[in-house]
Amino acid sequence: MRKKVLGVLVSGRGSNLQAIVDAINADRLVAKIGVVISDNPDANALRRIAGLDIPTAVVERKNYASKPEFEAAIIEQLDLHHVELVVLAGFMRILSPQFINRFPMRIMNIHPALLPSFPGLDAQAQALQYGVKVSGATVHFVDEGMDSGPIILQEAVPVEDDDTVTTLADRILHLEHRLYVRAVRLYCEGRIHISGRAVKILPPRQNS
Ligand code: GRF
Repeated sequence: MRKKVLGVLVSGRGSNLQAIVDAINADRLVAKIGVVISDNPDANALRRIAGLDIPTAVVERKNYASKPEFEAAIIEQLDLHHVELVVLAGFMRILSPQFINRFPMRIMNIHPALLPSFPGLDAQAQALQYGVKVSGATVHFVDEGMDSGPIILQEAVPVEDDDTVTTLADRILHLEHRLYVRAVRLYCEGRIHISGRAVKILPPRQNS
């Protein structure tokens, strides 16, 4: 099977990037990271992959006069490295409809809540504050809305009475790492079928 080329967009800690790198290195995911792009030169994500044979690019918003120019620079990097699937892994910027339409159903994001509940920032705090008894993680395709695209995978974790934002976020983060790798693998195996906004997971192909 030809390896699909991923472009991973990061801004910070990079633990989901790490999970993807680890899965590829352990042959649990047949894919190639074509480029990691960060909008933050100090992102820990970049430190995690320093010394690995993975191309990186720093594209800082402040170096561009407008958002379209900033996004054009990201697209240039993605094209340069022949990226087929854009993986948002803690990328802290909202992408424009123009960017999203350039990669229709080819941008994935992970969100630390069970969408459509608690979209946007601080999802774990939102869940705690609301008082839900389960939360979780959602991998979805990115559309023009805020965390509103077709849902690929979701899994739940309990919310305990004595949870703080940190303990709940940690529990969800463990799940995120497994879930994101699974979703990217399904994409790479051609097993994601989208009908309207419903995603169906196809059975494994024979002989692949
Ligand atoms: C994760 O919680 C993810 O769900 C959210 O941003 C965080 C990124 O963490 N979109 P990391 O940079 O992958 O460690």
